[in-house]
Amino acid sequence: MRIGIPAEIIAGEKRVATVPEVVEKLIKLGFQVAVESGAGDQANCDDDSYRAAGAEIIEGAAKLWAESDIVFKVAVPTTEEVGLLREGGHLIGFIWPAQNPELMQQLAAKKATVLAIDALPRMLSRAQKMDALTSQAGVAGYRAVIEAANAFGRFFNGQITAAGKVPPAKVFIAGAGVAGLAAIGTASGLGAIVRANDTRAEVADQVKSLGGEFVKVDYEEEGGGSGGYGKVMSEGFQQAQREMYAKQAKEVDIIITTALIPGKPAPKLITAEMVQSMKPGSVIVDMAAERGGNCELTEPGQSVVKHGVTIVGYTDLNSRLAKQSSTLYGTNLFRLAEELCKAKDGVVNVNMEDDAIRGLTVIKDGEITWPAPALKLPAAKPAVAKPVAVPTAKGHGGAGTPASAGKIIAIFGAVAALFLLIGAYAPAAFLGHFTVFVLACFVGYMVVWNVTPALHTPLMSVTNAISSIIAIGALVQIAPPTMLGLDRPDEWIRWLAVAGIALTAVNMIGGFAVTQRMLSMFRK
Ligand code: NAI
Repeated sequence: MRIGIPAEIIAGEKRVATVPEVVEKLIKLGFQVAVESGAGDQANCDDDSYRAAGAEIIEGAAKLWAESDIVFKVAVPTTEEVGLLREGGHLIGFIWPAQNPELMQQLAAKKATVLAIDALPRMLSRAQKMDALTSQAGVAGYRAVIEAANAFGRFFNGQITAAGKVPPAKVFIAGAGVAGLAAIGTASGLGAIVRANDTRAEVADQVKSLGGEFVKVDYEEEGGGSGGYGKVMSEGFQQAQREMYAKQAKEVDIIITTALIPGKPAPKLITAEMVQSMKPGSVIVDMAAERGGNCELTEPGQSVVKHGVTIVGYTDLNSRLAKQSSTLYGTNLFRLAEELCKAKDGVVNVNMEDDAIRGLTVIKDGEITWPAPALKLPAAKPAVAKPVAVPTAKGHGGAGTPASAGKIIAIFGAVAALFLLIGAYAPAAFLGHFTVFVLACFVGYMVVWNVTPALHTPLMSVTNAISSIIAIGALVQIAPPTMLGLDRPDEWIRWLAVAGIALTAVNMIGGFAVTQRMLSMFRK
C-alpha cells in the first residue's frame, strides 16, 4: 500500500507527518511512500532528502491524496482535505472526535477508515511508543521554557561575577503532566529554582526527581481523575489553591501553566490580581491558551504585556520546534504502522480485537466506532478509604492518627521487651557487640533515610567501597609482630591476609571509581 504525506495547510502549522529517517523504515515494512512536494520544507526536510530516503515526490495535494491508500497527517483535516480523501481510504492523524462531530460525519460519508492518534488508550504500556500526545507535549513543555527565557530579561542560573551577584530565576510550573514535567526538567537544567504544583499528589516524586520542589495546596483532597488525568476540584480546594498561587505569584519570576482536565475548559488559576502582583519584567507562559487559558489575561496565539508582565499565549509551540516535533510524531506513526502491518508486507490490518488499535479506530469502513468500549484492565487493588480531613487552620491538615500512633507504641514496647530479655540473659561480651550493632543500625538508617532515592545506587557503591575496611584486619596480620606487640601468626594466615588485601583493593578502588562515575552523572 502507498502512504501519502500531504503538506499541512492550516496557517502556522509547520510540522510534517513523517521525516526522511522514518520514510526508510516505512519502506522496510513493505510500504511505498509518497510525499507532497514542499511538505517538509518548514521542518527542515526538503524534497531531495525524502527522495534520497526512497520516497516519491508528488506535485500538488489533489494528486497526492488521490494516489494514496493511507494518508498520514498532523493537524485535524479541513473540509477541503476530507474532499480530497479517496473513497474507502485510510487516514491517520489528530482527529479529536468529541470536538469534531461534523468532521466525523464527513469522513464516515467517505467510507473511510480513520485512526485518531489522540484516541490512543494511553494507559496501555505497549501503546506508549505510539503516544503522540506525550511526544508533542514534551516538546511543547521544553519550548515553553525557551519562550519564557526569551521574554525574560535575566539569566536563569545564579552567578557570582566581578560585576556583581545574580540570583537564580524562580520558576513556578502549574500542572505537572507531560508538558509540565518537561518544563520542570528544562528550567532546572538551565539553573533556575523550580517549584511546581498539581492537583494529583502522586506526581510530587516525579517533580522532585526532575530537580523541582513540589508545592502542596493546604487542603486535603484526592486530585486524580480517570486515566491518570486531573479532575475538577471542590470549591474549598480551589480557594486554598488560589491563596497558594497568589503567594507564589509575588515570589517567582516566571510562571508556566499547563493545567488541563480532558474535555473541560482550562481551569483559571492565575487571576488578573495575581498578574498585577508579579514583579515587573516577569513572564507567564500559558500553555493552555488554546483551551481558554489558565491565566485570566492570556490572549491565545499572542504575546502581550500587561501590568509589566509578558504573557505568552502561543498555541503553536510544537511548530516552533518543527523538526523535533515532526521526527517524534513520525516515529509514533511508524510504530503504529508496525502494529498495523505485523507481516511487514506493506498491507495494513486494522485488527479490532487489539485493544490499542480498537481504541485508535474511530471510523472503520465508514462506520463510526468511536468511542471505544472501556478497556478491561487488570482489576486495580481496591482503594483503601482514606480519611479526608476537613480543611482546618494552617498546619493542621492531618487526619486523625490514633490508630497509627497506637501501632508505633506497640512496636516500641515489643522492641524494649526484647532488649530487656537479651540484657538479662546474654553474656557480657555479647552485650558490648550487640550495643554497637544496634547503634550502627540506627545511625545507618538515619543517614540513608535522608539521602534522596536517586542517589541510593552511588551510596550503595560507596558503602561497598568503605566495607573494605576489612583490609585493616589483613594488614594487622601481615604487619611485623614486633610493631604490634603480638605473636607472629602462622605463615599461611599471613598469605591469606595478602590475598585478602589484594581482593579488598579491587573492591575498594572499584567501589570508589563507580561512585565517582555515578555522581558525575548528577553533576551539572
Ligand atoms: P496532561 O493532562 O498530561 O497534564 C495536565 C496536568 O494538569 C495534569 O497533571 C493535571 O493533574 C493538572 N491539573 C489539572 N487541573 C489542575 C489544577 N486545577 N491545578 C493544578 N494542576 C492541574 O496534559 P499535557 O499533555 O501535559 O498538556 C498540558 C497543556 O499543554 C494542555 O493544555 C495542552 O493542550 C497544552 N499544549 C499546548 C501546546 C501549545 O502549543 N500551546 C502544545 C502541546 C500541549
